[in-house]
Amino acid sequence: PETISIQELANRMAERAVDVIRLLMKQGQMVKITDVIDADTAQLLAEELGHTVRRVAESDVEEGLFDVPDAPENLVPRPPVVTIMGHVDHGKTSLLDALRSANVVSGEAGGITQHIGAYQVTSPLGGKITFIDTPGHAAFTAMRARGAKVTDIVVLVVAADDGVMPQTIEAINHARAAKVPLIVAINKIDKPDAKPERVRSELLQYEVQVESMGGDTLEVEVSAKAHTNLDKLLELITLQSELLDLKADPERDAEGTVIEAKLDRGRGPVATVLVQRGTLRVGDIVVAGAEMGRVRALISDKGTQLASAEPSMPVEVLGFNGTPEAGDRLAVVENEARAREITDYRKNQKREKAAARSATVRGSLEQMMS
Ligand code: GTP
Ligand code: MG
Repeated sequence: PETISIQELANRMAERAVDVIRLLMKQGQMVKITDVIDADTAQLLAEELGHTVRRVAESDVEEGLFDVPDAPENLVPRPPVVTIMGHVDHGKTSLLDALRSANVVSGEAGGITQHIGAYQVTSPLGGKITFIDTPGHAAFTAMRARGAKVTDIVVLVVAADDGVMPQTIEAINHARAAKVPLIVAINKIDKPDAKPERVRSELLQYEVQVESMGGDTLEVEVSAKAHTNLDKLLELITLQSELLDLKADPERDAEGTVIEAKLDRGRGPVATVLVQRGTLRVGDIVVAGAEMGRVRALISDKGTQLASAEPSMPVEVLGFNGTPEAGDRLAVVENEARAREITDYRKNQKREKAAARSATVRGSLEQMMS
């Protein structure tokens, strides 16, 4: 049978629990805040308190939360979101750092004040490019498993002195599974033992055919260390993104994905969010995973406070009541009651899953003992 606790019912109505308890007492029922009542009683109570009741099956709680279609007439171009992938030590972090610092040197306003795991640079061809610093392939896979498609383009970094390695192949498979185009960046060409030709022919074995081998995969030889061809790489990204014709509707409520999140001593929970649709604004009520909050501040990758963040922008979001998890999808909801309904449901699900897991562990332990 459907039940709800007094506390949860009060939360969802944005009423005080004592008022709910008082009402039940008037009807001759003695209850505590933690007691549960059945759904019909809850409905009567809610109506008594002047609320409109919408009974939803649990699976309906999240209905309409994500993948709300954009209004075609509002669509405008948005920057591409790029993830850099490749084998260990092939230079992913160096390349990200080089792209960012080169861009700052070339006249970006602001400068770098902090690392937020994602940032935007200006392409030499104009327009912005968003880079996400994925902690690793595991995170990428986790995000995809949760239905979050965060990246439009994968830059595959292959060290010219090392060639195609196991994680290079994994990255190719990830990009293919996510149906995301690859740009091959052959890195470390400053090294005397660099063999870019070998990289190209090795890639053929994995059905990645770069342009100079007669294929249509964009490629560039770079050196993150010597800052060689970084502009060329940015240009290729812009060209590739033009082919993808990326658009979004900035008018609507925001949807996005948590790239990383932490509990900051002074600022409380801080989530780095990639806004993917709509515009996120200070004051918006948001849910991400099992957490909710009212956006208190938005901070750009340059460390400046913003009033709003548009599609493809990475921002730090302050104001969450708890710390969400990387890969959680974020949505703006109409009010706190709706946010609470969603996050209560998800917290419950989490608890149930955890309980089911420990029951399984107990069960198998008992089996082992008998
Ligand atoms: P993981 O995060 O451990 O997977 O490595 P990564 O792919 O981020 O590589 P990282 O940027 O840490 O670079 C690994 C090593 O390669 C470092 O010692 C870099 O200094 C060096 N390196 C990166 N790019 C270049 C390059 O273009 N030329 C040379 N000579 N060395 C480079
Ligand atoms: Mg790295």
